[in-house]
Amino acid sequence: MSTSTRPPLRLAILISGRGSNMATIARECRQQRIAATVNVVISDRPGVAGITTAQDMGLETQVVSWKTAVDRAAFELALGQVIDTHSPDLVVLAGFMRVLSGPFVERYAGRMINIHPSLLPKYTGLHTHRRALEARDAEHGASVHFVTPELDGGPLILQSQVPVKADDTESTLAARVQATEHVIYPRVVAWIADGRLKWNEGHPLLDGKPLSKPVVEHFDAS
Ligand code: GRF
Repeated sequence: MSTSTRPPLRLAILISGRGSNMATIARECRQQRIAATVNVVISDRPGVAGITTAQDMGLETQVVSWKTAVDRAAFELALGQVIDTHSPDLVVLAGFMRVLSGPFVERYAGRMINIHPSLLPKYTGLHTHRRALEARDAEHGASVHFVTPELDGGPLILQSQVPVKADDTESTLAARVQATEHVIYPRVVAWIADGRLKWNEGHPLLDGKPLSKPVVEHFDAS
């Protein structure tokens, strides 16, 4: 249980699909393992499983449809309005599949984090598990990072590292990596909620020390 005495961190969680990371973080907030509240879950797609899950958990949900927006500027205007209505301290991208513009990202500098299914800087973009298998990597994993205008390029915070097994397929590897995401993403949110992880003019500080490289957590192949 968190021992923080500060007011709970307000979260806006942005999703595009299943929402398993969102649900894990929301559950940990509810169990007071993270000193935060999920104030809104926003999807850019209507009807996704993550929205149903969030509603089942009694969370406030909003859909800001990418498809029906006239252009990216209109989408981001609507998205920004919904986010700001909830005054979040932290915007958590959890499987949110839209690339956000530089100016939009800058508005939330130091207040927006993302999880990406690779050991960044390896494999930015899509199909990360397939690419790790094709490259015959011995290790694969996921990365939590602050969001900057460079796609999947912001300062790294925490990575999970898993061994790649000889008989791995894209889906077995994806499942193993995703299980680790559910460990590392809540942990980073807790660090921020507890005031341990801070953003200092473009540079993360963990427990007062510059985080020049990510913390790496190793998981076994089970
Ligand atoms: C995760 O694998 C995450 O790394 C990537 O999108 C996926 C989202 O999964 N950015 P979920 O919607 O949280 O289940």
